[in-house]
This record gives sequence, C-alpha cells and structure tokens, in this order.
Amino acid sequence: MRILFIGDIVGKSGRDIVSSLLYSLKVEYNIDLVIANAENSAHGKGITYKIYNHLINDGVDYITMGNHTFSKKEIYTHIDEMDALIVPYNHEKRTCGKYYQFIDYNNMRICLTNILGTALMGESNCSMFDSMNTILKETSECNVDFYFVDLHAETTAEKRIFAEYYKDYAKIVVGTHTHVQTADERMINDVAFITDVGMCGTYDSVIGRDISESINAMISKEHSQYTIAEGEAILCAVVIEIDEKLKKPVSIERLQFRPY
Ligand code: FE2
Repeated sequence: MRILFIGDIVGKSGRDIVSSLLYSLKVEYNIDLVIANAENSAHGKGITYKIYNHLINDGVDYITMGNHTFSKKEIYTHIDEMDALIVPYNHEKRTCGKYYQFIDYNNMRICLTNILGTALMGESNCSMFDSMNTILKETSECNVDFYFVDLHAETTAEKRIFAEYYKDYAKIVVGTHTHVQTADERMINDVAFITDVGMCGTYDSVIGRDISESINAMISKEHSQYTIAEGEAILCAVVIEIDEKLKKPVSIERLQFRPY
C-alpha cells in the first residue's frame, strides 16, 4: 500500500496545484490512498464545505486539519456531511467532528488521527500526550494495526519526541503547520517520520502569506488582514509505503515540486 500525504494546502494557489498535479502523482507513484492537510485551504484559515468537496472530487480520500479548523463558521453546519474530515482531538473549539477514522485496507486497519502540538500553538485544550493517550484508550479494542498521526505542531523537537514516545503505536508520524518542508524524512526503526511535510501554496510568499503584508504586520505589530500571496505554487508531500504482510511502513519519500 502506498499513501500520498499532502502538506498544508494554503489558499487558491495551493488548491489549484493539488488539482492539477494529483492525478499524475497518483499514477506516477502508484498511490492507493491520498491524505491532505487542508486547514489553510480557505484563504489561509479553515475550510469550507465547497472546498472540501472540491478536494474530495480531485482525489483526496481523507482530510486532516489543524489550529484553523474552525475559523470558517460554516464548518459547524456541514461537519456531519464531511465524512472524510478529521479534526484535531485537542482543539479548544472542537465540539463536533471526528478526531480519528479507521482506514481498512486489505485486512489491515490503520487509525488516522490529528493532534495539535503543545508548544507555541495556543488553541489546544490538552497536551499532545493526553490527546494520544485518550485516542489509544478509546480504540484499544478496535483491532488497530497502527496509528497514522498528523501532528500539527510548531516546534521541531516536539514532533520527534512524540514519534519516539509513541513508537510502538504510531508507525507513521508526519508533521504539519510550519509550511516549511524539512529534509529529515526517515524510518526511525519501523516508524515513518518527517518533522514537517511543507505546504502547497504560493512559492514567493511568507509561508503562503503576502510578503509585503507580512513585513508590515511584523514591524507595526498591528493586527492586519491575512492576505494570501498570489502566484505560482509549490507542492510538498510525502509518499509512504506500507508492507501489508508486516502491517507497517517500510519507507518514506519526500516530494517537492517548485515552479522554478
Ligand atoms: Fe496550522
């Protein structure tokens, strides 16, 4: 089994590059399942029902989120119809939505989940450890072969600590949120790991945001609009191969497609 995990989709340029490249990526890398983080897909903050459906129609099988999960209020209206959406367990505004889903594939059960990191993340109602412990407890009788965790977190060390601490359960740990792809993808024994998958969004930007606005906001320290940068996009992702007999991952490959 080969899984394509797509890093944070940021705004229209991110959605467009996923739309234009996903089919060919699935063919080229012989992909069986596609997971994408889309917490920034609606103009940088949150997701809409319309965008959710576009991504699913484009070939995304499951969508994970992050600290901006509930930024677009309409999610509360449609979340029960968004079957493939997984929201962070420990988001302080989570009153609805699924925080894990079972993926059953050829006699193998993967539990896909989404957790916010603790450091510098603000909007979490409990630590990543309490979150994962709760999910492990809730699913302990569910014949899960291993857990796939999208750990949406700011700091690098925290993600590695999580992977080490839960290595007997979480065999795939992919970091999201920073929008900057790290070059540390590797197997840590039988755990497929990368600190951050990176983003799909405008290449000439400050992690997807308009450059001038980002500079002005930092210098003035005043609250300003969050304007998504326009222009050609980068696409960042990883491909994880799973040995179905061993029921665990055997490789992780980092992908990055820059416009120039
Ligand atoms: Fe985020």
